[in-house]
Amino acid sequence: MAMEAVHGLQFEEAPIFERGSVGRCGASLSVLDVPEVDLGGEYGELVRKVPAGLPEVSEPEVFRHFVRLSQHNFSVDTQFYPLGSCTMKHNPKVNEWAARLVGFSGLHPATPADFAQGALSLIWHLERALAEICGMDDVSLQPAAGAQGEVTGLMMIRAYHQAKGRAPRTVLVPDTAHGTNPASCALNGLQVKPFPSGDDGIIDPAKLSGVVDQVGDDLAAVMITNPNTLGLFESALPTIDNMVHERGGMLYGDGANLNALMGRARPGDLGFDVVQLNLHKTFSTPHGGGGPGAGPIAFKASLIPFQPRPVVCRKDDRFRLEVDRPHSIGRVRSYFGNFGVMVRAYTYIRELGAEGLKQATDMAVLNANYLAALLKDTFPLAQEKTSMHEAVFSDRVLEAETGIKTLDIAKRLIDYGFHPPTVYFPLVVKGAMMIEPTETESKETIEAFVSAMKSIEREARESPELVREAPHLTRLDRLDEARAARKPRLRWSQEP
Ligand SMILES: Cc1ncc(COP(=O)(O)O)c(C=O)c1O
Repeated sequence: MAMEAVHGLQFEEAPIFERGSVGRCGASLSVLDVPEVDLGGEYGELVRKVPAGLPEVSEPEVFRHFVRLSQHNFSVDTQFYPLGSCTMKHNPKVNEWAARLVGFSGLHPATPADFAQGALSLIWHLERALAEICGMDDVSLQPAAGAQGEVTGLMMIRAYHQAKGRAPRTVLVPDTAHGTNPASCALNGLQVKPFPSGDDGIIDPAKLSGVVDQVGDDLAAVMITNPNTLGLFESALPTIDNMVHERGGMLYGDGANLNALMGRARPGDLGFDVVQLNLHKTFSTPHGGGGPGAGPIAFKASLIPFQPRPVVCRKDDRFRLEVDRPHSIGRVRSYFGNFGVMVRAYTYIRELGAEGLKQATDMAVLNANYLAALLKDTFPLAQEKTSMHEAVFSDRVLEAETGIKTLDIAKRLIDYGFHPPTVYFPLVVKGAMMIEPTETESKETIEAFVSAMKSIEREARESPELVREAPHLTRLDRLDEARAARKPRLRWSQEP
């Protein structure tokens, strides 16, 4: 694919494989100082017969290509990115400094424990800090994402029941849940039974009690996100906690939204047995682009025997890896998980301290409520309640009156320089726009965003085509998202 240029503007960035020319090299290799080996004799059939087809490019070519690509991207380092549920907040640069310290970044994951004491100490201290923040007894840092944390927590719940000679299979999940919740149950061979939230957007214990009765002895767990995906605090948790434990079930907490509780309330105190934490959300580690991430789980003492192994243990000032854990569900990730992400999260916790973490929570909640107060007369809130870290609005009135869809509004926001919020989720809200400003944004940014939303609402009434055909100011206009999702081309090939 050739790079097109019109009036000096590039429209297509040719892939790296289509750049350079045969024999061009971007690195200087030292002269061979060992005897040449006949690979054919050594490896026979395994020796490649045709060249690997690697790009042959100079350093400026490769550098400019990737810098240009990075500039085509929308990023949290360049613009406001209020993606509800995904929490795109600023990644403090001190975290990057710490993660790049050569003692951490250069450490081979297979280094014996005796020579990796600093890294093991960091893992151990981060586990203790997260356990304290969550009000839990122990933590495993192995899972590499929130969703994998869910799978791991549910595996531990299953192992717990099995150790008691039981095999209940049903998990109750409210209709506001993130899609990963039912998926994690399915991966564990558990049956998901959805139940409706109350009219006020949170769980109604009386309604839940009826469903719990129907399930009876087959109740493995109830899986609850708090605050939930409507940005609301689940205030009936103590009642739910008693109800679930009386029936022998466990309470799983989706802790992806801990950034609205940290320092103010602890999932363990609210009755949860296990909770996953998305370090890339609450603890400011980088997010998006496929990772790497981390989704540690924090759990109560009853689940400790089942946690993934190896476990980092401390004796006096030495740290070691304990493998002899006969009831463990085993390893869920190679080595110890994404260590670089752990360094960043630990730095964030130490940088802010207890007071700072509490303040981050307070600011996240304040910003969401400020945004809600400014915008709710233009786009109604899904629930007229105090928000936690995010607020969900609906554009159903605007759509009924103008035909402009939620996706049109999202695309038009890009022209105003803002990343669109999460749209069409949670599913229980028609025309949902889920907006999470996070604690890292200023009052001015929030006001500028609200003003853009109000302008778009006016445009939808006065010049709807402008909104329907947006974005206008991007390198590419509207993409065929359904085709991109169903028939993704993720790998370069010579064929068109
Ligand atoms: C409520 C909730 N649960 C679970 C997840 C899954 O987390 P991850 O994307 O890290 O797998 C998310 C993701 O943002 C979420 O918002």
